[in-house]
Amino acid sequence: MADNKLSIEDMAVFCKKKGLVFPSGEIYGGLAGFFDFGPNCVEINNNIKMEWWKFHVQEREDIVGIDGSIITNPKVWEASGHVASFTDIYVKCKKCRKPNKIDKNEIKKARCECGGEYEVIGDLNLMFKTNVGPVEGSTAYLRPETAQLIFADFKLVAENSRLKLPFGIAQIGKAFRNEISPRDFLFRTREFEMMEIEYFVHPKNINKCPFIKEVLNHKMNVLSAESQEKNKSPVKITIKQALDKKIIKTEWHAYWLAVEHKWFINLGANSDNFRIRQHTKNELSHYALDTWDLEYNFPFGWKELEGIANRTDFDLQQHIKHSKKDLSFFDQETNEKVVPHVVAEPSLGVGRAFLVFMFDAYNDDKKRGNIVLKLDPKLAPVKAGIFPLISKPELIKIAREIYDKLKMIYNINYDKSGSIGRRYARADEIGTPFCITVDFDSLKNKSVTIRDRDTTKQVRVKTAGLKDILRKLIDAEIKFKDLK
Ligand code: GAP
Repeated sequence: MADNKLSIEDMAVFCKKKGLVFPSGEIYGGLAGFFDFGPNCVEINNNIKMEWWKFHVQEREDIVGIDGSIITNPKVWEASGHVASFTDIYVKCKKCRKPNKIDKNEIKKARCECGGEYEVIGDLNLMFKTNVGPVEGSTAYLRPETAQLIFADFKLVAENSRLKLPFGIAQIGKAFRNEISPRDFLFRTREFEMMEIEYFVHPKNINKCPFIKEVLNHKMNVLSAESQEKNKSPVKITIKQALDKKIIKTEWHAYWLAVEHKWFINLGANSDNFRIRQHTKNELSHYALDTWDLEYNFPFGWKELEGIANRTDFDLQQHIKHSKKDLSFFDQETNEKVVPHVVAEPSLGVGRAFLVFMFDAYNDDKKRGNIVLKLDPKLAPVKAGIFPLISKPELIKIAREIYDKLKMIYNINYDKSGSIGRRYARADEIGTPFCITVDFDSLKNKSVTIRDRDTTKQVRVKTAGLKDILRKLIDAEIKFKDLK
């Protein structure tokens, strides 16, 4: 965390104050586990999703995307095992009556935060039910993960996209879970958005990853299941060391763990706040052979940010069995019909990613007297603020011309109200990386100043080259300090 005094409650207060995130339908008291997102948060979330899609789909030849429906044939959820097994143990505190969910293995030792013992109420399936059409009894479910339609649509997508193993199918979309105790702001909600990939390989190639060289020197904090059993701390090692010591079992799993970590780091997150932790046997989901979580050091402790499971061929085999359809895939290289294995399923909630970028960007700058949100320009909701120094028609005219040109490319903001200092502070607080000010010199020599959010330094540039400079700054092609 950039500012380790900031709690998750503080973050929720800040987000509400800045109109980023607020309880859904708050005028009626809100609804636990549901949130609405204001204009600047929509921009940040869209940027997170766009960067995720660019990195995982657009820039790769081996991954394509789909968009499945939120409600689908309920047989999908019977086949996947969610109807039978997607449950939590629902408990209530005997003392304060607060509900909670606990792990099967915690029943005897778990205690409420007030110290009270728990009484088990029963198993609760986390899927929301609904009724399709006017007839009662035609029960369907709101999807609890986006993954299943990737499996159900697997053959159609793979064949139409002319994919060759190994390949992945990605999806971004909403998921719904009737969490027993939604908590920690956006960390555990009942409606959230997911970014998921199912990565399929030939069953004979479940270990060897052709891209492993790209990540062998990448360092991560690693906490294996064995270390947890022996109460040992995480170790900072390279992917090569983790594979050589057989801490991570397959090259594929190691590759995806490193790639997912790198995605966060490339977008400005602090590497030290991340670690990978292997699920212990008791934690594994019904479909997983091995799972590692990418964890983040949230103010309430190290918690799952992203799950990366080895789902084997469990899901495809289940859908083959239940649909009685042939979902095998013809592998041109080996001339074989195979049911591919999902060696890694990177699965990340947009809300948790948002929290990570916000915590790592949040700076309470005492000298400036305001918050500075040091978001990567690619994630910043507003890329530039355009300010006439004072409200004079000749300055406003130039500022509006610049605004009209730049708004065709970026989400930018025109602001002429209040002192220039106040406008800079407002821009800092929502993470606007650059502020462009039109002053009296602009009238004389067709130039403007650009102010850098992180250093507050200003550089004068020609108005004619502004569009190009801004693009280079946002895309990190040039650094602000190198601007002449
Ligand atoms: N398809 C695999 C899957 O659904 P998961 O670990 O249950 O795995 C994946 O969820 C990710 O989705 C989590 O790592 C987290 O980022 C996000 N997530 C899960 N439940 C959530 C919730 N109730 N609120 C917010 N995000 C959640």
